[in-house]
Amino acid sequence: MPTSYAIIGASRGIGLEYVRQLAGRADTVVFAVVRSKQRSRHLDAVISGLNNVHVVEADVVDFASLQRAAQEVGAVTGGKLDYLIHNAARSERSLAYRGFDDFPSMEELDADFIDAFKVNALGVVHSITAFLPLLRAGTKKTVVFISTGGADPATVIAAGVAKMVAYGTTKAAALMIMTKWALQLKPEGFTVVSIAPGLVDTTGTMDELSGTDGESKKSEANFKKGGHKIRQQTPEESVTMQLQVIDGLKLSDTGAHLPHNGKGFLD
Ligand SMILES: NC(=O)c1ccc[n+]([C@@H]2O[C@H](COP(=O)([O-])OP(=O)(O)OC[C@H]3O[C@@H](n4cnc5c(N)ncnc54)[C@H](OP(=O)(O)O)[C@@H]3O)[C@@H](O)[C@H]2O)c1
Repeated sequence: MPTSYAIIGASRGIGLEYVRQLAGRADTVVFAVVRSKQRSRHLDAVISGLNNVHVVEADVVDFASLQRAAQEVGAVTGGKLDYLIHNAARSERSLAYRGFDDFPSMEELDADFIDAFKVNALGVVHSITAFLPLLRAGTKKTVVFISTGGADPATVIAAGVAKMVAYGTTKAAALMIMTKWALQLKPEGFTVVSIAPGLVDTTGTMDELSGTDGESKKSEANFKKGGHKIRQQTPEESVTMQLQVIDGLKLSDTGAHLPHNGKGFLD
């Protein structure tokens, strides 16, 4: 029986690189969960000619769409899933970098936080709930949430990142959501962890909807000024290290928030 992986948010960026690397392994079946098959042109290019990747549509804000996706996955695997990798996050870069003073009104700040919460935090509850029956029947019982060092207050202070307020707040909420799932599912033998991917240059697969990312380079420069070693990596570099972490996970790791490089969030 091949090892099965579902990647939520697989159309581009880090999620797409997960699909590429996992599909390249022997004896795997990979489910690339995307909002729109039609708009996932980078994914199309990566999986062309591969017969162990299935593309399934779902939006993490829409629980019913995730339930349908889980049904599609179960129909291929006989009702099982080994690994769930929840990577999706609100991706519009023009919104993500805003600070408290960058909103034209409090109404717009409220609306932005609520939208970000729906995708970045509630989306995690939705996807784990939808795939849980399949994961319970799987052999690995592993859930990985792609987090960020920006969800950890000590790291945010050390790095001096006052902006990215809605993103950081909702990713921190998602970290707590993972903590709760880790505790709830531990008696069933689940391993539930968060992994921060480091600073990753995903501009190569951005599209007109996600916008461009001039800020990420600036972040690297600011980190450097602050004396931190963190630098922009390619998706390939980061996901290779993330998969080393995932391959080495043990039940005792459950609940951990792990840096992808095995060192620290700012290294
Ligand atoms: N890149 C970095 O430096 C960095 C650093 C720290 C943490 N991270 C984390 O790593 C993960 C991936 O980041 P990335 O840089 O690869 O982002 P990205 O290139 O912007 O990709 C985001 C992915 O999430 C999907 N997505 C967005 N909203 C969704 C929704 N409502 N339902 C389902 N899928 C949705 C997007 O799909 P569409 O194509 O449909 O929009 C896309 O596949 C995120 O969780 C992010 O917080 C990234």
